[in-house]
Amino acid sequence: MNTLDQQTALDEAARERIKASHGLDSDADRLAHFYRGWANSYDLDVGLDEYCGPMIVAELAGAVQTAYLAGQRATIAILDAGCGTGLVGVELERIGFRLIDGFDLSEEMAEKARQTRAYRHVRGDVDLNGPPSDYSSSSYDITVCCGVFTLGHVRPQGLRELARITRPNGFVIASTRKSYAEATSFEQEVRRLQDAGVLVPAQRLNDGRYVAEEHAHYWIFQVTHEANAQTEERP
Ligand SMILES: C[S@@+](CC[C@H](N)C(=O)[O-])C[C@H]1O[C@@H](n2cnc3c(N)ncnc32)[C@H](O)[C@@H]1O
Repeated sequence: MNTLDQQTALDEAARERIKASHGLDSDADRLAHFYRGWANSYDLDVGLDEYCGPMIVAELAGAVQTAYLAGQRATIAILDAGCGTGLVGVELERIGFRLIDGFDLSEEMAEKARQTRAYRHVRGDVDLNGPPSDYSSSSYDITVCCGVFTLGHVRPQGLRELARITRPNGFVIASTRKSYAEATSFEQEVRRLQDAGVLVPAQRLNDGRYVAEEHAHYWIFQVTHEANAQTEERP
């Protein structure tokens, strides 16, 4: 096999793993098992697929901080939900954020994130599809979530939990792959939460670059006071 063939084979294998990750039906055991096996080669695979979601999400967090939040960037408490190996945290640190926490369903992915040293604290075994986590309400100025509202991963209802953890007038920044936005009730969930006074969709980058074969939408939500007052039943 020549070098070009080897590269093509690597690209193909990376695309296959990414595709396989979309068929996990939001099942916590299957997701955790899959990502346990993928943690070592995840960064290489998504790099081959020209994954630029983390850079865009981090830069949106930077813009939101500059535009709307008082205080130095280094004092803004920011949570990376579904942090994976820490690609978003590394970008956040690059642009000056310092109080960065993260969580992930997969302990192996979370351990990779810890090893970046971009984070203050990272928890594994946190399921955004499960009952409300033990993160306190109103804990963060900004919560970011990249690559997690994607097919087979976290259901739209997970957005409610991100709002709860974020302080009133803080922001939730999330990517949704276009295929996810089309196949799920994410937009209805946004409307439902808006009607319930939980959050307001403040800005949206439509159809932005994400991976080589697919674009994503990037959402910025502002959290209201109601987000933490309400205790809605979650499925
Ligand atoms: C495509 S990766 C994205 C990781 C990282 N945010 C990034 O942009 O590179 C999806 C991540 O979501 C995590 N994940 C999947 N389902 C989850 C759930 N129900 N709760 C929390 N994390 C979950 C996976 O373990 C994985 O690390």
